[in-house]
Amino acid sequence: MLQQVKSAFAGDHDVSGAPVAVGCRAISAGYGGQLILDDVSFGAAAGQITALVGPNGCGKSTLLKVLARILRPSAGSVSLLGEDLSRLPTRKIAQRMALLPQGPIAPEGLTVKELVAQGRFPHQTLLRQWTSGDAAAVEEAMALTDVAALADRPVATLSGGQRQRCWIAMVLAQDTDVILLDEPTTFLDLRVQVDIMTLLHRIAAEKRRTLVVVLHELNFAAAYADRIVMMRAGQIACEGTPTETFSSQTLDRVFDLDAQVIADPETGRPVCIPRRHMPNPAAA
Ligand SMILES: Nc1ncnc2c1ncn2[C@@H]1O[C@H](COP(=O)(O)OP(=O)(O)OP(=O)(O)O)[C@@H](O)[C@H]1O
Ligand SMILES: [Mg+2]
Repeated sequence: MLQQVKSAFAGDHDVSGAPVAVGCRAISAGYGGQLILDDVSFGAAAGQITALVGPNGCGKSTLLKVLARILRPSAGSVSLLGEDLSRLPTRKIAQRMALLPQGPIAPEGLTVKELVAQGRFPHQTLLRQWTSGDAAAVEEAMALTDVAALADRPVATLSGGQRQRCWIAMVLAQDTDVILLDEPTTFLDLRVQVDIMTLLHRIAAEKRRTLVVVLHELNFAAAYADRIVMMRAGQIACEGTPTETFSSQTLDRVFDLDAQVIADPETGRPVCIPRRHMPNPAAA
């Protein structure tokens, strides 16, 4: 039985003392009668990249949905930039936090530019319609993600990787302090994965945005994230810096994975080398 980390978020600061931009305390949540997250506490430090990793079905997307208020928890609380999420109007949330869900589907016929422009909707009101600032944000997001040449193509006609970059552009166009991304590099070739991770790192470092990113590629998580949160079976199993969290023991405990962890000769960050799959029924 895994020991759940309960001290992950003890108020407005995370365990390292950094202020938390988005976090939850003692959350229970699930679907119908099925509880998926049980007494989970989590905090993403402001201006940092927190990578959420864990095996398929462990509850990563469910946690992001709770943080984004797409799924209401049955117990516990969520805070966004110091405010109780349950009390914030939806528009205010969308002005402060963007979510790229896992496997999003664009409405039929929508072009790339129209999709990216949807990121600006939370900033518009009856009195404040589309402005040159909105147009500039859309252009900038499309340029950053290299989709400007696809602007007039229907999203449905794009390749999986092109489509993924359009969704990331939409989230960037929303221009929020907090960005939640559920597997943003799925479908992308290795070079584009590197480009996207580099872009996310720049956004956090230069624009001081807070990113929570679900990743399956552990070496990208180790290379680009400031903090790692490892989940297993609806609980947080381990958290800390990449160096603190990546070890043969934690990879075995969290992923049932037999892997060697070495240091990147250039950066010193951990690199995982899988050896073989090693089921560990005792850790279930
Ligand atoms: N809409 C839903 N209705 C019922 N059960 C759901 C729903 N969404 C997810 N679940 C279940 O909740 C559990 C956690 O799912 P979740 O999508 O959070 O996992 P995950 O860690 O994101 O996995 P993956 O890496 O495969 O995306 C799984 O057992 C899943 O089957
Ligand atoms: Mg998921």
